Amino acid sequence: MTYLLGFGGYVPERVMTNDDWAGLVDTSDEWITQRTGIKRRRIAAEDESTLTLAANAGGMAIKDAGLTPDDIDEIIVATDTPEMYTPDTAALLQDLLGCRHVPTYDLGGSGCAGFVQALDVARARIAFTPKKVLVVGVELITRLIDWTDRSTAVLFGDGAGAVVLGSEPGRGRILDVVTGTDGSAAGILTLAAGGTRNPFNRRTLESGEYNRLVMDGRKVFMEAVGRMSEAVTEVLGRIGSTVDDVALLIPHQANLRIIEAVGKKLGVDRDRVYVNVQEYGNTGSATVPFAMWEAVETGRIREGDLVVLTAFGAGFHWAAAALQF
Ligand code: ACO
Repeated sequence: MTYLLGFGGYVPERVMTNDDWAGLVDTSDEWITQRTGIKRRRIAAEDESTLTLAANAGGMAIKDAGLTPDDIDEIIVATDTPEMYTPDTAALLQDLLGCRHVPTYDLGGSGCAGFVQALDVARARIAFTPKKVLVVGVELITRLIDWTDRSTAVLFGDGAGAVVLGSEPGRGRILDVVTGTDGSAAGILTLAAGGTRNPFNRRTLESGEYNRLVMDGRKVFMEAVGRMSEAVTEVLGRIGSTVDDVALLIPHQANLRIIEAVGKKLGVDRDRVYVNVQEYGNTGSATVPFAMWEAVETGRIREGDLVVLTAFGAGFHWAAAALQF
């Protein structure tokens, strides 16, 4: 059995509103609100980085679990916006938090599904050898995207969320997790440059490909709604529950319309679906752990609640986790 021992969440202080974006590109509060539900997002300060965001959330989760960095046996960081390409952000986090020389690795490239996938990896590691694993979802997207591309830039924000998992009873437990990938849909959400196929170089810099997010918004929308709904139904079926048993559904916070469509498709009423996308925008793999931390902190999640997390991301990946608090 894998237990949830502690939670953490962090967003930078600087708030950027839709009106702030309207001052930079040809957009409006009305367009962004209608299409996405986003009103504000947080932007990391110059002296912050993916690592410092992760350390804030990770340090909180360790403290919340009543532990010290010495107690952590393994670290997984889910991120598509790492501190650097090599080494992994998790290795740097181990050092910054003052953990022992325990194994660390990043789960990268799976976009916004990374954190829920990482929960699945962590629980398999814990099932193999009892241990305490720090799992962080972190993204500093606003430093890498193209600030002149109105169709993608306004969607994102920066943030981090974290959880400590272990084999000893805690505040909740993981009942089951389902994950899936359709690699044939990789092209609907991808970066134009940066790998060996199309490296960062003078040509990609001059063409503007170096920071271009290529997204087929409508296809992403449809896949996201279908896959998240199916994943939730599947994980509930595996634990012998139905949507009526769910106290709170925490979907990836990419877009209010996607969240509402998933709730509708599943038949979960609005007050049982967690929504904070209006405040923070899409913080990638941080949305789910940050929302879970916020829901625990504000008493939205109570003892006895069945909580379901679900996410989708570039790949195309999807995942859902059923948690009993
Ligand atoms: N402000 C004003 N106009 C805009 C903006 C903007 N910020 N962005 C695009 N437009 C324009 C487009 O240029 C287009 O103009 P045109 O008709 O003259 O060509 C028009 O608005 C409509 O554009 P669409 O892309 O068709 O708008 P759509 O209704 O599909 O909404 C959106 C776009 C919000 C991206 C939607 O497709 C969506 O939510 N898709 C899901 C994608 C998503 O959430 N991705 C998240 C990132 S990835 C992840 O989380 C895993």
